[in-house]
Amino acid sequence: MRNHRKVLPLGLLTLFAACGSFATEMPAKPAKIYHDHCSVCHGDHGDGQSRARGSMVPPPRDFTTPQAAVELTRERMIAVVSAGKPGTAMAGWATQLKPTEIAAVVDYVREHLMRPVATVDAGAARKLYAENCSVCHGDDGRGAKWTFTNMSPRPRDFTAPDSKTLSRDYMIRTVSYGKANTAMPGFETQLDGTQIGTVVDYVRGTFMGLDARNEPVRPILAAQPPMPGGLHGDAEMGKARYLQNCATCHGVAGDGKGPRAYFILPKPRDFRHPASRHGLDLGRLYQGIAKGVRGSEMPAWDTVLAPQEIADIAEYVYRAFIVADR
Ligand code: HEC
Ligand code: HEC
Ligand code: HEC
Repeated sequence: MRNHRKVLPLGLLTLFAACGSFATEMPAKPAKIYHDHCSVCHGDHGDGQSRARGSMVPPPRDFTTPQAAVELTRERMIAVVSAGKPGTAMAGWATQLKPTEIAAVVDYVREHLMRPVATVDAGAARKLYAENCSVCHGDDGRGAKWTFTNMSPRPRDFTAPDSKTLSRDYMIRTVSYGKANTAMPGFETQLDGTQIGTVVDYVRGTFMGLDARNEPVRPILAAQPPMPGGLHGDAEMGKARYLQNCATCHGVAGDGKGPRAYFILPKPRDFRHPASRHGLDLGRLYQGIAKGVRGSEMPAWDTVLAPQEIADIAEYVYRAFIVADR
């Protein structure tokens, strides 16, 4: 393994003589480190197609695959480039390169050779956004002009700093099932799971300035967390309490159209909306009822109801509205 490193730089000289053009194309220092030390194995384009390739098992990593984009986090790359990868021809560079140089060459590989997960197919992602979202969210992600006067609430400005707090999972759920009491439609029937992930990553990468590469691709629906303290609700008991405490706003039918709903904003949650039906599991219901929703008329019920009573109501709402006729 060590021999490879001693021998290869000679071959590298021939490669330099052969292509010779890299110096003008990539004057930056990290580019030079890459071409001096890495491309001999990983190839000029990072795709592992080097002359040395045939002599190595496993072959040098191809940085351009979608798998590499998902698997290789910056941290992992810095660790491997520093210490090497046992059982492969990838030796550690900690004795030849300074930590800053290692970080720089890793960033060079990430920025210039690896494909961000978000833009695995940049053209397709842009097209999905243009066809489905830009009519409301605008070409620049700030919201289309016409919506400013015609929509309330208007579409979120993805470029605003506070948008960075939206998690990928939340966005995927919103794009799949829509957002209750807003014009945001669900795309569950028009787009498949991969397309929804792609367009969300596009929004995150292009407008929100987030690096989607470091977020693992997760299944759309998270597992259902149970109610706290191992509580089990009694739906019959819950029904009575629901009618007494909740129906005035959320409606007897759970559709958010109780008699008081007309006077308040934001409107009470419609439990039959697809976004509720996919977003509210028992754990979320319990928390939402117990803690209320800040900035709305939804009170925190844990000040007036016991945990068991909250669990009963959560169970009723869950069975009667969330999973009814599923
Ligand atoms: C002697 C050939 C050789 C050289 C030179 C070389 N590598 Fe590698 N590299 C490999 C091989 C072989 C692997 C292992 C591939 C695998 O495990 O599938 C690898 C793997 C990697 C990985 C992936 C590690 C992982 O966790 O799977 C990174 C990142 C990497 N190399 C970066 C670099 C950088 C940056 C340089 C230059 C500083 C460099 N390599 C120089 C052969 C080389
Ligand atoms: C008909 C107009 C319309 C279309 C089409 C539309 N949106 Fe929206 N979107 C909205 C509105 C309105 C909101 C709600 C903003 C709010 O709650 O403040 C919203 C909210 C969102 C949110 C949640 C942000 C938040 O504040 O909770 C995301 C993510 C999102 N949209 C992404 C998309 C994506 C991706 C597409 C295309 C696949 C799309 N939207 C298509 C109007 C639209
Ligand atoms: C005074 C009107 C009012 C009453 C009474 C009320 N709610 Fe709400 N509820 C709201 C409003 C408003 C929201 C917020 C909607 C939003 O943010 O989109 C809400 C939101 C919720 C949510 C969503 C919480 C989340 O985390 O997203 C749940 C669950 C809920 N209510 C359950 C209940 C239950 C159960 C009761 C009876 C114990 C109840 N509500 C009583 C008005 C009310």
